Amino acid sequence: MHPHPSKSILLAAAIFLPALAFAEPHELTLERDVRPILKEHCFHCHGEGEKLKGGVDLRLRRFMEKPTKDGDKVMVPGKPEESEMLQLVRDGDMPEKGKKLTPAEISTLEQWIAQGAKTLRPEPEQVPKVWITEEEREYWAFQPIRRGKVPQLKNAADVARVRTPIDAFLLAKLEQKGLTFSPEGGQADPSAPGDDRSHRPAAHARGSRHLPRR
Ligand code: HEC
Repeated sequence: MHPHPSKSILLAAAIFLPALAFAEPHELTLERDVRPILKEHCFHCHGEGEKLKGGVDLRLRRFMEKPTKDGDKVMVPGKPEESEMLQLVRDGDMPEKGKKLTPAEISTLEQWIAQGAKTLRPEPEQVPKVWITEEEREYWAFQPIRRGKVPQLKNAADVARVRTPIDAFLLAKLEQKGLTFSPEGGQADPSAPGDDRSHRPAAHARGSRHLPRR
């Protein structure tokens, strides 16, 4: 008996659909993909500075949807070609001063607008004066201090040299490069020539000649 045809279609769909979903362009969001670009290149004149240049605030999607005082459309979801902000960036007119966007950043902005200018979550009613978003909080410096795992060392000789866990971190990095600590210096041998501590006061006396006279 042959399997029912619809079954094999379902099977094929089960195999190929995940691959198709993967081929879909990654959905860009304001918070994750676009905000970091605008923060670096635009916010100091368009939202976070003393004055809003040109009356344009780029901190929220709904602010971008407001036309400029001359009636230009700053950002039209789904329509990059009608979005003034993209045109200005493409022509190199914005940012007015400072580092221009890279082609990759421009294309991220364009794709985001083309995909309908998605946000990850509803935007806040009001923007706090100092606003650190959830995405920005993922930055390592905002993470609570956690005890790291002390690395396991490969060489027994290295293991023997660990005195404090910090040594293990250093040795693990050195092992990756095929290196280790320098050999330890031996204990000072008081009977060895050249280490006669009785010379010290003399050396000190020599040194003190350089002190200013009183
Ligand atoms: C150094 C300050 C500065 C930076 C940085 C800056 N702009 Fe501007 N922007 C201005 C000024 C000033 C105006 C007003 C120009 C005018 O009215 O002629 C303006 C106007 C605009 C306008 C409105 C244009 C119109 O039609 O009235 C848009 C849109 C804009 N900027 C987008 C951006 C974007 C996007 C960025 C970042 C990629 C950016 N700006 C970065 C200073 C800046």
